[in-house]
Amino acid sequence: MCGIVGYTGQDEAKDILITGLKRLEYRGYDSAGVALECASPATPGAPASGVTLSVIRRVGKVAGLESELSAFGTPSTCGIGHTRWATHGRPSVANAHPHTSCNGRIAIVHNGIIENFTELRAELERRGHTFASETDTEVFAHLIEEAYEGRPADSATGEPARPGSHDLMTAVREACTQVVGAYGLAAVCADEPGVIAVARKDSPIVIGRGERGSYVASDVIALIDATRDVVVLEDGQFARLTPEGITYTDADGAEIEPAVTHIDWDIDMAEKGGYPDFMLKEIHEQPRVVRDTLVGRMVGGELDIDELGLTMEELNLIDRVYVIACGTSYHAGLIAKNLIEAWARIPCEVEAASEFRYRNPIITPSTLVVAVSQSGETADTLAAIRDARIKGAKVFGITNVVGSPVARESDGVIYTKANKEIAVASTKSFIGQVVSLTLLALLLAQVKGKLTTGQVRMLFRELGNTAEQIQWILDTQGEAIHEAALACKDAHSALFVGRGMGAAIAHEGALKLKEISYLHAEAYAAGEMKHGPIALIDQGFPVIAVATKSPVYDKTVSNLKECEARGAQIIVVATEGDEEIRAIADHVIYIPPVRDAFSAITATVPLQLLAREVAIMRGCDVDQPRNLAKSVTVE
Ligand code: F6R
Repeated sequence: MCGIVGYTGQDEAKDILITGLKRLEYRGYDSAGVALECASPATPGAPASGVTLSVIRRVGKVAGLESELSAFGTPSTCGIGHTRWATHGRPSVANAHPHTSCNGRIAIVHNGIIENFTELRAELERRGHTFASETDTEVFAHLIEEAYEGRPADSATGEPARPGSHDLMTAVREACTQVVGAYGLAAVCADEPGVIAVARKDSPIVIGRGERGSYVASDVIALIDATRDVVVLEDGQFARLTPEGITYTDADGAEIEPAVTHIDWDIDMAEKGGYPDFMLKEIHEQPRVVRDTLVGRMVGGELDIDELGLTMEELNLIDRVYVIACGTSYHAGLIAKNLIEAWARIPCEVEAASEFRYRNPIITPSTLVVAVSQSGETADTLAAIRDARIKGAKVFGITNVVGSPVARESDGVIYTKANKEIAVASTKSFIGQVVSLTLLALLLAQVKGKLTTGQVRMLFRELGNTAEQIQWILDTQGEAIHEAALACKDAHSALFVGRGMGAAIAHEGALKLKEISYLHAEAYAAGEMKHGPIALIDQGFPVIAVATKSPVYDKTVSNLKECEARGAQIIVVATEGDEEIRAIADHVIYIPPVRDAFSAITATVPLQLLAREVAIMRGCDVDQPRNLAKSVTVE
């Protein structure tokens, strides 16, 4: 959550910071701000460095900050910026980053949570520091200030006076030793013009060196214009950026040589490419995601997942699978459960990572935990991975972000090849996750001897066909989806129903609708309707059903008849050619005939489009829905 960007070099910093913050806005958009180093007027009493920090902050999106900065004429070639998703403290100017020290000479931006901030703040206040915000972050500014300037003897505790280091990097390192929690941090100090000090623990930081300066950000997307070769800072590593270069150190201050990662995707891939919003662009990328996720997975007629990190013998011993994930990724897990149990005959449980981490699940060395996370940095999923590994499980990650914590902390990983997903609501990454989980299910089935090599090859081919099937939906179902959206846009609530795979798809459909249109939606197994939810239905109540041709098709249709009899307005995702469904459906959206096992990959697509249409009709921002952030690095 939250986005960090920093620049020191030869160019105007504010422009670089604003461009970077706009790209990072998907991480949070409650408030935004920058701290710029500016030459101070040559007046008596001006600081020795001749530099002061100008801190400009606004509530709301980066566009507001940009217009305020357009009137800011003082040149500056070094600064830091932040876009915030509120955790501690409501969205307000006072709580917006950057935060400053008491003397206003140090400013910091921070991502993460400081767990011991209450105690630290009380201590700092007792020592005379004045706080200007309700945030946990601000303690960092004061801790760095104390480490930089030094502090007098403490008569209350008997601690002797401590001299200041008068070195920003050393002061940041020292402050980090006092903090419990997660941080990605960038700090500037008016007494060291041109220097940005950076620290990382459990919150992503990338650093790059361009031709005209040095850059830091919480995501590579903010610095890709300047360089393709970046350093992904590891936990416990620090960096000191200057206009001339970058030095990296460990926690003891010893210089280190970090690994450089080359980024091979293009910024165009992360921009709208002619679509009105990122969500629509990303929905349209899904055929490519299917193809890319499958590339190289069938080699010489054999399924190839060599980054698994487990031998075939170890895989064969697996007798229980847990899929742990959150939100949309959790729904991908529901699909996987169906496939793993049907094909590999291994019991599979799907659990919200936030629940898994606080129970005592039954885990043995023959348990495989599959952690699914688009961002690869969801706090609950990471905590669940760590817990599972301590308990002896093998952990396999499925993520979209190369080198992310989920990738690094798992025994093996499949990358979903969705490329950067910008819209806050997941679409293409979900499809990549389902395809990857399908591959895993096929592999487990093959290793366990439940599917023959021939069957695996045939299923793999059919899996690949879903790319064209998605394309067909995108090309032909727009009008039907639009009509269905008109039918439910003014509703107060909607029910999504289905059976088997259809029930899992319904869950994802309901989440998409509620998160971007703010229309309340619930998903139910269609057969469960008569045990309660059917009481909701009155004249015109929207029921959105997944009733594709499958072994439970007839049962689903019976449940829909029960809804129809009570006046529901029925929208059905059905299989092309199914004309009988029109007898009970007010609106039908078709998908091409598909094996039930693969139906999630195609039937989810109309529901994504439906959610988007409804949201637009209701005047919502589909890319940046309220209260949400793309990556959830807090519990
Ligand atoms: C919904 C959505 C979220 C995420 C969830 C987990 O559209 O995007 O529900 O799926 O926050 O995020 P990741 O997959 O990054 O762990």
